[in-house]
Amino acid sequence: MSTSSQTILVTGGNKGIGFEICRQLARLGHHVILSARSAERGETAVAALAKEKLEVEFLLLDTSDESSIREAASTLAENHQALHALINNAAILDVWQGSIVEAGAAGIRDCFVTNTLGPILLTQALLPLLEAGRPSRVINVSSQLGSVENMTDGWAGYGISKAALNAATRKLAQALKPRGISVNAASPGWVRTDMGGQSAPLPVEQGAANIVRLITDVPSTLTDRFLEANGEIPW
Ligand SMILES: NC(=O)c1ccc[n+]([C@@H]2O[C@H](COP(=O)([O-])OP(=O)(O)OC[C@H]3O[C@@H](n4cnc5c(N)ncnc54)[C@H](OP(=O)(O)O)[C@@H]3O)[C@@H](O)[C@H]2O)c1
Repeated sequence: MSTSSQTILVTGGNKGIGFEICRQLARLGHHVILSARSAERGETAVAALAKEKLEVEFLLLDTSDESSIREAASTLAENHQALHALINNAAILDVWQGSIVEAGAAGIRDCFVTNTLGPILLTQALLPLLEAGRPSRVINVSSQLGSVENMTDGWAGYGISKAALNAATRKLAQALKPRGISVNAASPGWVRTDMGGQSAPLPVEQGAANIVRLITDVPSTLTDRFLEANGEIPW
């Protein structure tokens, strides 16, 4: 638990839960690096926060693109000594909502590349900065739909990619514990965003707060957990 200012990178920060995470962390006085795959959408988001007198830094980062991940990591290393937290928030939902029996290869592959591989490669690329910031943390924004224990049919690409992200979370947690970096998965709940839709019960402020609490309320030593607002979700 730390109240001092931390340097925190958020992926997919231009809208939805990611944008609101950036806003809440900036309000708490942290140095927020808002990343987005589109310079235009990212700069627009940064400008919206500036109107609220919240200053955040922009970083161009497409988490589905290995060269973008490498370039973003090198830009960060040029401008920062250390990173205290990485919030892997960016994700996509597959267009196919129906049964896995009819799920297309492209939808499953795209979800895996953005939702699973991206967070793994980005964590690898940022290890020197995260080690310099230790005790530091990686927070993988996951979903109830990624819980193997509660797995149901539908949204195959998304559910499988989040279950795989959870598996990656556990492996990274074990690998990085000796290096002073905690790694946890966290669900924001079902939230009213472009992804969650308008029927979702939670406003975006609450969804983001359910992730931000991992920075403000959870000890940096807690690792290898799948957390939600009120406790833990079975893997
Ligand atoms: N909303 C829910 O009910 C809910 C429930 C459980 C978990 N979650 C998780 O919460 C996180 C945020 O979801 P959300 O509801 O805020 O979704 P959202 O409104 O659709 O926003 C997704 C964000 O991810 C970005 N993104 C997608 N692919 C990217 C890529 N390749 N590189 C960089 N950024 C990329 C999007 O950027 P563009 O604007 O460029 O597309 C956007 O900023 C996700 O991990 C999601 O799985 C959401």
